[in-house]
Amino acid sequence: MRILDLIYRKRNGEELSEEEIAHLVTGYNSGEVPDYQMAAFLMAVYFTNMSDKEVGAMTSAMLTSGEGIDLRDVGGVKVDKHSTGGVGDKTSLIAAPLAAAAGVTIPMISGRALGHTGGTLDKLESIPGFRTDLSLDEFRHQLTHVGFAVIGQSDQVTPADGKIYALRDATATIESTALIAASIMSKKLAASLDGLVLDVKVGSGAFIKKLIEARRLAQMMVAIARRANLRAQALITDMNQPLGYAVGNALEIMEVSQTLQNAGPTDLTRISLELAARMIYLGKAAKNLEDARKIAEEKLLDGAGYRKFKEVIQAQGGNPQVLDRFDLLPNATGVLEITTPRGGYVSAIDAELVGQAATLIGAGRDSKESEIDPAVGLILEVKVGQKVDAGGVLCRLYYTKEDRVEDASQSIEDAFRISAQAPEPRELILEVVS
Ligand code: URA
Repeated sequence: MRILDLIYRKRNGEELSEEEIAHLVTGYNSGEVPDYQMAAFLMAVYFTNMSDKEVGAMTSAMLTSGEGIDLRDVGGVKVDKHSTGGVGDKTSLIAAPLAAAAGVTIPMISGRALGHTGGTLDKLESIPGFRTDLSLDEFRHQLTHVGFAVIGQSDQVTPADGKIYALRDATATIESTALIAASIMSKKLAASLDGLVLDVKVGSGAFIKKLIEARRLAQMMVAIARRANLRAQALITDMNQPLGYAVGNALEIMEVSQTLQNAGPTDLTRISLELAARMIYLGKAAKNLEDARKIAEEKLLDGAGYRKFKEVIQAQGGNPQVLDRFDLLPNATGVLEITTPRGGYVSAIDAELVGQAATLIGAGRDSKESEIDPAVGLILEVKVGQKVDAGGVLCRLYYTKEDRVEDASQSIEDAFRISAQAPEPRELILEVVS
């Protein structure tokens, strides 16, 4: 079977067999298939898409590229949560501690920054000492004793996803529902879960811009879960402006800390509570969804989620004091205020441009090899619907190197739309697919 023929056929829109997809993924994982051929294949998928059967085959091939994680010895009902990617989307680090504090076991397998969106692993690694490369024994031990642990793809856990994920990030092939579904579901099936909550983001800051496509992606992932006997629910949520105010790794950890102390932004708190409630419900720690919502709120108000996150930080080698003393986190050396020349209502903030600005100054990667700067990012001063005077501050950019600050600042200016009239409020949670 020649790889060139597979690329050729996919480019022409043909359906590949399970065996052919497995051959390609296994070959790429072992290093026999070079980056340039895999990149060409991914671009062909981007343009011609994949059938459900092909997505299933791609998911299985990536899943079986590693040995997976046997969690039979870990007690409790195991539930994970995953987002398709957004700007300022730090909900995993709020919802999961709340659900863990309610007694759900959370074996979380996360990803890194992808395109203009952030990654849970990069956010956590901005905490000095925090290790996301736990061995499987350490992972199991922490799940038994703390109830929540986070790792990424590794040689044992979906290594092919780790490699393809990084290649997609550097070849403009992220925004494919087929590739997103296979990437997420291979990771989620690797940990023998009992339940899964998905957050499918839609809008300017998401990889999926249209509701109809978001719905299709949600249905595809829930169907893959069902075939694997995994109970899954997907929320489709708005990503037309960044979630919360902070974008950038250490800055987002600060906002997570504030939110877990019930002093966070309303939009972020609302979505995180709903995700936590669904994790609690699927984790059988509540009789029904209504009770689960009450429990999630209780765990926020009594600080149990906040304490659980500190336990996780401690267990994974970080200093939990970072949640109280932000000076212990990496801090940027420069700050630039971006102001508006005209007053009015903020009617839109293009989240993709905001994410690109953060990536430009180092909060994300522009090549497979580039390093993230954990300190940099931005804090919005206003959100959609708020009033701002002429000369008022829209956003503060936090940077450590000056070279791309001007471009980033232009991107932020382009992202904001100011109008004379207040915009209609938008729904945050658009649909549920289960
Ligand atoms: N998250 C993932 O794990 N994979 C994607 O492709 C997108 C978001």
